[in-house]
Formats: sequence, C-alpha cells, structure tokens
Amino acid sequence: MKSRGCGVQLRRTKERMGAPLCALRMVRSDEGENNKLDKFVIKGGRRLSGEIEVSGAKNAAVALIPAILLCDEPCVLENVPDISDVSMSLRIMYEMGAKVEMLDPTTVRISAEGLKNFCVPYESARRMRASYYFLGALLGRFCKARVSMPGGCPLGDRPIDQHLKAFSALGAKCNIEHGMVDLFAEKLTGSQIYLDVVSVGATMNAMLAAVRAEGLTVIENAAKEPHIVDLANFLNSMGADIMGAGTDVIKIRGVKHLHGTTYSVVPDQIEAGTFMVAAAATGGDVLVKNVIPKHLEPITSKLRKIGVNVDEYDDSVRVWVDGPLVRTNIKTMPHPGFPTDMQPQMTTLLTLAEGTSIITEGVWEQRFRYVDELRRMGADISVDGKVAVVEGTGKLTGAPVKACDLRAGAALIIAGLAAKGITEIEDIYHIERGYSNLAEKLRQAGADIEKVSTPVATIREAVSG
Ligand code: EPZ
Repeated sequence: MKSRGCGVQLRRTKERMGAPLCALRMVRSDEGENNKLDKFVIKGGRRLSGEIEVSGAKNAAVALIPAILLCDEPCVLENVPDISDVSMSLRIMYEMGAKVEMLDPTTVRISAEGLKNFCVPYESARRMRASYYFLGALLGRFCKARVSMPGGCPLGDRPIDQHLKAFSALGAKCNIEHGMVDLFAEKLTGSQIYLDVVSVGATMNAMLAAVRAEGLTVIENAAKEPHIVDLANFLNSMGADIMGAGTDVIKIRGVKHLHGTTYSVVPDQIEAGTFMVAAAATGGDVLVKNVIPKHLEPITSKLRKIGVNVDEYDDSVRVWVDGPLVRTNIKTMPHPGFPTDMQPQMTTLLTLAEGTSIITEGVWEQRFRYVDELRRMGADISVDGKVAVVEGTGKLTGAPVKACDLRAGAALIIAGLAAKGITEIEDIYHIERGYSNLAEKLRQAGADIEKVSTPVATIREAVSG
C-alpha cells in the first residue's frame, strides 16, 4: 500500500495502543494520560487576597511553536505556559523530528533545522484546535502540509474555510479527505487576502504561510488580538518583514530565510481576566501580576461598570471590591471588543450582581452550554440561542458539576470559589488545556481548592460492587 505518511503512523499508533475501545474511551473521555479521573474540590466563601502571577498566553504559544518550523536555526521560547495544549504542540514538533529541549518549566529550545517531515500525526493533531497552525507553518516551509482537521472546544460550527481561502490565494491547492487536510503548492506567491470573517486562526495561518512567500501579501479584515501581534513580533525577531499586526490590515513582505531567536511569550490576557473576575466574585483584593494592562482594557472597563475597582500599574492590576455589584449588558466581539473567551467567567460574576444582565455571544454559535452547570449551583439564567439573561440572585451554592470546555471550566471554578459550600468539578482536563498550576495559584491567594485524583480501577470496583 502506498505509504500515506500519517496514515501509516495512525495504524501503527493504534496497534501500539491496542487497548480495548472502552478503556480508550475512558482515557479519552477524561483525556487523562494517567488513567485517572481528576477533579477540583473547592470549599467556597473565602475572599481571595494577595498576589497571583499570570503565565504566558496559550493562544500565542500554540502559534509560536509551529512557527519555528519556518526557521532554519534553533529558537528559544521563554514564558511558555505549562499547559496541555502547549505540551501537545511540543509533542507534535518532536514526533515530526524537531529537537525539543525544556531548559526549565517555562523555557523551551526547539530546533527544526534539517526537518523533512510535512505530516502531523493524526492522533496528536485531532485533539486540539491549534493544530491548524501546523498547516500554515509547514506550507510556508515545504510548500506542502498534511494535518488532521482540528479539534478543540465544542463551541458550535468551527469551519476553516478562511484558512483555506488564504492558502489558496498564496497558490496552494487544498484537499480534505479521510479527516486530513492536504496542501500543496508549486511555489507560494504574495497575494491580497480579504478575510470574510474576522478570524484569529485564519489571520495567524495566513501570516505563517506568507512570511516566506515571494513578494507582498496584504491581509485585510485581519483579527487584532494581542496574540496576533505577538506572532508578528516573534516572526520579525527571526528576520521576517511584517507590518500592521494589531490593525485590520497586515502587510507581509516575503523573505527567503529566517534565523534563530530568543523570544518571551506575551502574558495571557484571558488568564489575567479570569483571575480578575475571581477576585471580584469573592469580594476579594488581589494584585494580578505579569500583565499588560492595555490588553485588559475591555475586561477592566466592564468590571468597573459593575462596581469593581481596578487599579492599573506598569505590569500588574489590583482588583478589589468595596460595595455591591450591579448589572450590566455584554456583547462579545473580536478584539478590542469584549473577548468571547471571558464570556463564561463574566456571566458567572453577573449571577452575583444586583439586577438583570444580558449577555450576547457575538463570536460563537454555542457558548452557553455551561449554563446548565451554573443552574445546579442556583444561578437563574435563561438562554435563547446567542443571548443569555441573568437574574442576579447574589448567591450560589456548591454542587457537583462538569466542565464542558476550557473557559466554561474556569467559570465553574469562579462559581465554586464564590459559592456557599463544597463544589466538585469533573472533566478538568478541559481546564488544564489552558491554565497552568491553576489550583496552586488560587491557593496562594487564599482559595480552598484541591485537585483530587481517583484511579479509574477504583471507580470500576465501586461500580461493579
Ligand atoms: C481562537 O479560535 C481561539 N483559539 C479561541 O479561544 C477564541 O475563542 C477565538 O480565537 C476567538 O477569539 C485559539 O487561538 C487556539 P476564529 P479560532 O477563527 O481561531 C468563524 C480559548 O478558549 N470562522 O477567530 O478557531 C468561526 O466559526 C479558545 O482559548 C469561520 O467562519 O477562532 C467563529 O464564528 C476557545 N471560518 C469566528 O469566525 C474560518 O475559517 C471566529 O473564529 C475560521 C473562523
């Protein structure tokens, strides 16, 4: 049988795993590599106080790591968050033949020189959304790429048509079969790319594919998130020629060669926002450190509107509460609008505010799946499509709940911290995709939160009696 690159690897992988489907499903359902069911147990009602340090941005790191495929020399990335999406990205680089060396828990040295493999193993890539960045980076380096259709949080329809539109504009032929995306180009030539939808992923992928194309590429209607700017800064530190990142028109003049660099990942604005909301929800007083206050402006503005105090310093913000929280309305939008990745956290906070708040989800089709879990904790929220109406009850009670995606899980943690009583959160592998050492960071600020692991065998014994 003609070797199909990943196809062959996929078969070998399954043989190697060999485990019965149910065990696979068990492992896959909790995503735990260690065959355990992990949960967070939170004793709520304690005010957060003290300091919390923010890590590097997940949505920057998962693009910067594949970007190193475009470089012919070793690169060092600092302030890399210790999260499973980053581990998966590093594992993919390693499986493709790159040299990956952790210099310390948040610093990695990666060398992709001499790499010939343009294929990303199916099993690794299918689990996360950001695997699509390997398409742009491999196309940019080899003029060909073979990567599985991406996975990621279940937020409704998550097409990649704008990514493929960008690749085609640069001269690539795209084919999707057997769950894999195949790209091939005789050569890549700079082009005009107008994105029909403001897309973070498509903007970043277009940059990755264009940075070594021949001539000028102009991306119009580009996304403007801080991680877009971070990718442009990273590529420029390797010798790329990118202008306009952070605006809706990005110009990229292709270069033949990118050299090695040492670069620090931008602080995570969503992790910072999550801690800000946690401080507010517990009536606390917290200094959130290692942030860029400008990146937090949409979040800061909304928190102040509902009665939370936010004091801004050079690289930190102090969040404190000295009065009642009041209702507000929120509509999530691409940056610099209110970030969709802060919607579940803010909705949780608004259940504690006086009055009725309306939250409109302007980016994703289905980003209110977590509301059922908040209702189990006493929240009074009604949802109709992309709109949620929150009746501020001022209180939540602890309950057993499940995280259905990354930011929903973060919202449930905030709810547990604010609730009266004990909250147990299952499926926390979702949360650990994007938050590093979360329980430890919160404990340092006074939270009573523990990660509890139960071996799957124990559960089977309990069930079988
Ligand atoms: C990125 O997802 C983030 N993920 C998401 O964060 C974030 O919610 C989203 O950007 C918006 O900020 C990563 O960066 C890994 P999009 P992405 O392309 O790139 C539509 C988190 O919690 N669209 O900006 O997939 C799409 O359906 C995660 O960290 C197309 O129609 O988002 C959506 O409605 C969750 N065609 C809108 O654009 C396309 O080809 C924005 O999506 C691409 C997108």
